[in-house]
Amino acid sequence: MRETTFTPPESGTKLTMVDGRIVPTDEPIIPYIVGDGIGADITPVMLFVVDAAVARVYAGKRKIHWWQLPAGQVAADEFGKSLPTETVEAIKEYRVAIKGPLTTPVGKGIRSLNVELRQSLDLYACVRPVRWYPGVPSPVKRAEDLDIVIFRENMEDLYMGIEFEAQSEGAHKVIDLVNELRVGHPPISGDLSIGLKPFSKYGTERIARGAIDYAIAKGLPSITIVHKGNIMKYTEGAFRQWAYDFYKREYRDAVVTEKEMKAGASAEGKIIVKDQITDAMFHELLLHPEEHSIIVTSNLNGDYLSDAAAAQVGGLGFAPGANFAEDKAIFEATHGTAPSLAGKNKANPGSIILSACMMLDYIGWPEAAEAIQKAISSTVLNGKVTFDLAMSLPEATELGTSEFGDAIVENLE
Ligand code: NAI
Repeated sequence: MRETTFTPPESGTKLTMVDGRIVPTDEPIIPYIVGDGIGADITPVMLFVVDAAVARVYAGKRKIHWWQLPAGQVAADEFGKSLPTETVEAIKEYRVAIKGPLTTPVGKGIRSLNVELRQSLDLYACVRPVRWYPGVPSPVKRAEDLDIVIFRENMEDLYMGIEFEAQSEGAHKVIDLVNELRVGHPPISGDLSIGLKPFSKYGTERIARGAIDYAIAKGLPSITIVHKGNIMKYTEGAFRQWAYDFYKREYRDAVVTEKEMKAGASAEGKIIVKDQITDAMFHELLLHPEEHSIIVTSNLNGDYLSDAAAAQVGGLGFAPGANFAEDKAIFEATHGTAPSLAGKNKANPGSIILSACMMLDYIGWPEAAEAIQKAISSTVLNGKVTFDLAMSLPEATELGTSEFGDAIVENLE
């Protein structure tokens, strides 16, 4: 069992960045948070698989120096705080971290630790690649047709949490102001609860930039801007317009819009930029998934779409995720703490292991990421799975969390 500490490991080096890119190094120090609930089951398996893949692929020339940081219940018990300032500062300084799920206690005035982490580190982009792994049971006929990356704006929208309870002083004041400003409209009723949905051009442009830089780096064919601008014109509609304007202004030579194509422009060598209303995008995911490669969208849309897309390829067990700032990133399992499975060696570690693959890619070690992805595919194709998949695969052998990790390592090439 590794130690939880605020002191970095003695060996290894801090990751640095030049021109927005991580400078590859052979022995980086990478902080991690085990997480609550099943975190203690899945995170050690992720460390084991990553260490084995790195050792195998780079023949011992590269190594991660892991640093376990306190957060969640462990930190609350030991330091009286679920998210100690030192933990946040360490991630800021070391730039790249990986985490298991954290419990959000239910109750008034308690913020989600995940939201707190995102806000304090300005992690404005939530990135979720969604693709199917052969052998994983899926509810659709052609799960392989869906292969997208969702870029979800992470800081704005209803998630800013600016809300006023019905009948509160704040709600009454906002209602009075709205009635004063919306001349010519019937007044809104005084007993409403109010939530605000702020959007900015700045916030839209930076998520739009993240999406296109990724499309260029990976050679992907299109970006779909997803919005509900037909109804919410100055928030969702503005998101759509700001994103189009930004692409045409800053990436003119790299893009062609669908509208320009209809007017005869060629798409040769260009990234096609198009848009979809959110509800239509849910149809598209099911009916024409192959026509989309990157989705860029606002916070609430992205939340819904990410989970719907993950379900289509077999659920959250193999859905990785990461949150990016300009100069730092946290990679994380996309599911929660699954309290009923905690400590039972049953949970599927796939999500956090694939998130680690995103991390390896980000630090410039794509060969190790690829080796792990291939080994996961072979393991599942050999019918070795955790209970969540075994339920729909009668022929499969059900493995525990750590045995599934062992099987992945055995299949590393
Ligand atoms: P959950 O994701 O923990 O569980 C939903 C369902 O999926 C449950 O049936 C669970 O058993 C199953 N499940 C989840 N992960 C699994 C895995 N790796 N293998 C097999 N089955 C798995 O969501 P829930 O119940 O809504 O939340 C529980 C706690 O987790 C809450 O405190 C919530 O705030 C927190 N949470 C934390 C997240 C994070 O840290 N990023 C994300 C989502 C929830």
